[in-house]
Formats: sequence, C-alpha cells, structure tokens
Amino acid sequence: MVIFFELFRDFLCCQFVSSLNLPYFCSSRKPMEYENKVIDESIQGSALEIPALDNSDAKKLYLESYGCQMNFSDSEVVASILSDQGYQTTRNIDDADVILLNTCSIRENAEQRVRNRLTEFKIKKERNPELVVGILGCMAERLKKNLLDEEKLVDLVAGPDAYRDLPNLIDEVGTGQKAVNVLLSRDETYADISPVRLDQGGISAFVTIMRGCDNMCSFCVVPFTRGRERSRDPQTIVSECQDLFDKGYREVTLLGQNVDSYRWNISAKGEIKNEAEPTTNFAQLMEMVALVSPLLRVRFSTSHPKDMTDDVLEIMAKYENICPYIHLPVQSGNTDVLYRMNRGYSREWYLERIAAIKRIIPGCAISTDVITGFCGETEEEHQETLSLMDLVQYDFAYMFKYSERPKTLAERRFADDVPEEVKGRRLNEIIEKQLAHSLASNQRMVGTIQKVLIEGKSKRSDEHLCGRTGSNAMVVFPKENQEKGNYVHVRITSCTSATLMGEIVAQP
Ligand code: 5AD
Ligand code: SF4
Repeated sequence: MVIFFELFRDFLCCQFVSSLNLPYFCSSRKPMEYENKVIDESIQGSALEIPALDNSDAKKLYLESYGCQMNFSDSEVVASILSDQGYQTTRNIDDADVILLNTCSIRENAEQRVRNRLTEFKIKKERNPELVVGILGCMAERLKKNLLDEEKLVDLVAGPDAYRDLPNLIDEVGTGQKAVNVLLSRDETYADISPVRLDQGGISAFVTIMRGCDNMCSFCVVPFTRGRERSRDPQTIVSECQDLFDKGYREVTLLGQNVDSYRWNISAKGEIKNEAEPTTNFAQLMEMVALVSPLLRVRFSTSHPKDMTDDVLEIMAKYENICPYIHLPVQSGNTDVLYRMNRGYSREWYLERIAAIKRIIPGCAISTDVITGFCGETEEEHQETLSLMDLVQYDFAYMFKYSERPKTLAERRFADDVPEEVKGRRLNEIIEKQLAHSLASNQRMVGTIQKVLIEGKSKRSDEHLCGRTGSNAMVVFPKENQEKGNYVHVRITSCTSATLMGEIVAQP
C-alpha cells in the first residue's frame, strides 16, 4: 500500500514559508501572476509515498494542507495521530472515507480558496453521505461552529490545539453528530508526537519549537487562531533533530511564530520556574541543535525585530552549521505605521538590529515581509518603506497588500481606507525594488565559491542538481557524481534574480 499526502500550499500566506526552501517572492510581474508562478514552482501538490502494510479494510484519509509551514508541520502531526488509529492516507480523494483540510486565515484570499474547495467536497458528500469532511487549522478556529451550522460545509471542525481529539471527533461524526473542538490550550505542544514526515527520505525537515503568539500585531489574526505562546521541551526538540539526522536529513528549520521569545523553564516575566531544572532560551536551543552534528544545517523562522538579541547572532556566528540567514519581517519602514501595527519597534530600532546582524555576522542574508496599504498609510509613509528597503538591501522579500481580518485590533480601531488600486500600485513599487535588490544580491555572488547542500535534481534537467547555499540562495549545477544530501562546493558562474548557476569545484 502506498500512502500519499496531497499538498496544496497557499504559500504566499504566512511568514514561516517566507524563509524556507521555496521560490522567492520577488518579481516585476503583477502580484496575481506571480502568485500563480509561485504556486507552480513550490511544493504545491507534491506527494508523499510512505510504504505501509496494505490493508484494504483500513479507513482512508485524504489530507490537504494550506498556509504556513506550521500548518504543514501540523499535518504531519495529524497524520501521525490518525495513523496510530489505523488510518491510511490516500492521494485519491475518491477513495477517501475522511477528507481533512488544514487551513489558513491570514488573508481573505487564503480563506476564499478553502471555501471553494469545500464547495467541491459538498458535491462529493451529496453522492456519498458516509464521507466525513473536516476542517482543521486557523479557519476552523476562527469560524468555529459557523462552518457547521450556517455554512453547512463540513461535519467536523478542529482547531490547532485539538488534533489529539481527532479520532473521537471522527467517531462522533460516525454516530450522526457534527463534531467540534476549537479549545485553545495553554500548554499543548504535541511534544511527544513523532510527526510522519511528508518528505520521506528527504533532506530538509521542519521542527516546531513553539506554538501560538502573544504579540497582537494589529493586522494579524494568528493570536486569535493559534492562541497563547508556549514553548516545547528542548530535550524533545533535540531528540527529534537527532532522529532526523540519523534518518539522513541534513537540514532542520526550527519553527515558531516568534522564535526569539522561545523559553523553557522561564516565565513570561523572566523568572525561573523550577530552580532544580535548567533553563533554555532560543540562543541556547540553537546551540544544542547545532551540536547534534556539524553536518546538520540549522535554520529558523521567524525572528521578531523587537526580540532578536545579540546572543542569538553571536551563536549564529559561532557555528558554521547555523545558516547565515535571517528572516526579519519589517512590515513597514515608517515608525507611525509600525506603531499602528503594534509591532513594538520603530524604524530606527529595526535599522539598529540590521546593523547588529551585519556587524556580528558579516555577509548574513536577510529577508523580510512587507505589507502595503495598511490603515491610514500615506504616500510619505509608503516612501519610507521604499527607502528602508534601499538601506537594508534585502536578499529577498515577501510582499502583501493589507487584507483586513475580522476581530483584529486594526479592524476594531482603524478604517481600511487605502483604496485597492493604491495598495496594488504600492505593492508593485516595492516588488520592483525588491526585484532589483534580489538581482544585485545574486550578482554579488557570481565568482564566489559556495558550500551547497544538494536537495535533488533540478526541475529543468536531469543532468543538473539543485541545492541551497547557507544564505538560502538556490543554486543549479551539473550533477557530476554527486547526489542529494551531499555537501559540495560550487563556483557561481551566472545568475537570475531567483537562481544561481554554477559548477562543482574541489573544496577550497
Ligand atoms: N494582511 C496582509 N498581510 C498580512 N500578514 C499578516 N497578516 C496580514 C494581513 N492581515 C503578512 C505579514 C506577516 C506575513 C506572514 O503575512 O507580513 O509577516
Ligand atoms: Fe502575527 Fe505579529 Fe504574531 Fe507574527 S508576531 S504571528 S505578525 S501577531
């Protein structure tokens, strides 16, 4: 029996994705066209094959994921929980007894995509009333029972902290009831669940180190859908990374909404909770993971400018296997807009953090997220975002038009008053600028020799391999005798704004 996961990634819609191994969002094209291209080139629809015992009696689960990398990681947890209950996952939706959609709410269009998909499933359900259709993740948490009662699109609703309850919820549906669990937890981290990897035999894996967010950025729905911030036991993180390394993985990305506020055995006020136990902050956790093996690359996402401390930068500089790459969302280059966004820092503070990165880790790649057309954004404020981009010279960026989300602070406090066409024009201006900066960043690498971790065959040719530099730039080169998982040194010979081309050379 072959087990598949079908993945659909609205990958423009969350910050984790931004710093991960996916194509750059930076183009002179119009955003919509770019979105299509991005979806094309990402792991959208990529399938997983996990060999399993063939059991034709087993219930079949079809699991589709949208949104941020955290959602994709959560789907691995869901798969693990349900496979322990005897479920086999299927890629063929028509074979499924249970269809689950792991969803995203960060922008309106992410939700619309899921609604369209649910409408398709409704037709399937009319044909097969036994079919269970469930919704997981942020949209489930945001819309709760509405999806059952008013929209009547699903039988089951489970929020991000309710996945252990899924077997019961599915059973409840089996007895003719609608099932819902959207309780948010203060301590659920799924620490003991060993995720079924979507990318079996892969090179790069994501490891969730914390859940939720306490920041309350005024535009963001995440604190409402994912609940309070909580960190996972560091020992379980390190053993998961060790296990991944033993299975052949060569890169881990530590995931959290705000990794800089990771803390174990330390209260929100900074007090030690249990004097008899050690404490761990993010810098220490990264060091523990880096020490698993010098051959294991360590990445992380996402950092927050208000919390990113020099000790994190110093640990990055100390270990060669911690990749010199930081995703540091700025959102806006104007202090007043940042204040309205409730980001907790000013333009000057952000630029000082950038200076610290450049001082402590020379050559470190930096990427960002930007929102255009936030409530009340004036032309001058927008110009400050453009000027900040010139100062920082990001290697790449993820750029979005502001999308008002229900119940957020911004929705309650401010008018969404920047006209759609102005938001779009401003977005195009920052995309144009980023395109130039990304190209310049790649051009600076031409002529250098880079250590590359091979991820697999290049999409365009079987004779070429692709992999990433520590700074997260994608490199394509003739394969010679190399294979995925190996580290090679590559001389960069040419580039586009998205990809470097090169050839393998002997270790310098
Ligand atoms: N509208 C537009 N972009 C948003 N983001 C988060 N919420 C919104 C919103 N309401 C962006 C931010 C964040 C990234 C993951 O998504 O830039 O860093
Ligand atoms: Fe949302 Fe801000 Fe938390 Fe990021 S830090 S998840 S933008 S509230």
